[in-house]
Amino acid sequence: MTLAKNEKIKVEFKNVAKQFGDRVILKDFSLKVPEGKTVVVLGGSGTGKSVSIKCLLGLLTPDNGDILVDGESVINLKEKQQYKLMEKFGMLFQFGALFDSLTNWQNVAFALLEQGIKPAEAKKTAIEKLALVGLGPHVADLMPAEISGGMKKRVSLARAICTNPEIVLYDEPTTGLDPITADTIDRLIVEMRDKLNITGIAITHDMQSAFKIADYIALLYQGEIIYYDTVENTKTTDNPYIKQFINGEENGPIDFFGK
Ligand SMILES: Nc1ncnc2c1ncn2[C@@H]1O[C@H](COP(=O)(O)OP(=O)(O)O)[C@@H](O)[C@H]1O
Ligand SMILES: [Mg+2]
Repeated sequence: MTLAKNEKIKVEFKNVAKQFGDRVILKDFSLKVPEGKTVVVLGGSGTGKSVSIKCLLGLLTPDNGDILVDGESVINLKEKQQYKLMEKFGMLFQFGALFDSLTNWQNVAFALLEQGIKPAEAKKTAIEKLALVGLGPHVADLMPAEISGGMKKRVSLARAICTNPEIVLYDEPTTGLDPITADTIDRLIVEMRDKLNITGIAITHDMQSAFKIADYIALLYQGEIIYYDTVENTKTTDNPYIKQFINGEENGPIDFFGK
């Protein structure tokens, strides 16, 4: 697939390789993520989806290849540049639990408070972000233990967007959630993209969720992106790897158990 010419590339992985000891995880990982779009990276468990995100965030250093954000390499940044880069990112992790001992607004505004922003101002911003994810101001002063699981997930999303990130990384955002809550989170992810022009990279093995949130779908297999196309094309593709993944079939070209 070739991306439309007018797509500005926000994040690009170029031939990224990463191994641990002699275990090759990423072999030749290349992916272009257009600005304001959400790319879903599919892949079996243990294929290196989280490793790729950690390389993007500078938590791991690739052995080879490059990763660009806004056209500039983010590999081996100096501390100050790394901080600047991190300001562009928001993150929503599967187990991105809230701090039980902090109120919801303090959870949302955590990064702001860390930056030394005054509590009154941080709280105001937190309440705005809570509103964006459909939670009223009364939620701000409650503790996480006082709200439902679905509301907690919304608070986590509000936290992910609190610093006005340009890029949000979603690592298994709906894994382990009941279908109703998962659907709510999916809808909010789409809404964040449309309202805030957020570039999203989402990792999931939930096809339902992928179809709801993605503009583009990529499949990671044996260290490489072996498929990349629009969500529309993916729904009707003949690609046997994707079909196997969509249908959750054990038998097909993907050897899920061979690793
Ligand atoms: N820091 C690390 N040191 C050694 N092995 C790691 C490290 N991080 C991840 N791995 C291994 O790399 C493989 C891919 O991990 P990961 O990216 O978390 O998979 P997933 O696709 O499920 O997100 C796994 O086998 C994991 O054990
Ligand atoms: Mg993972």
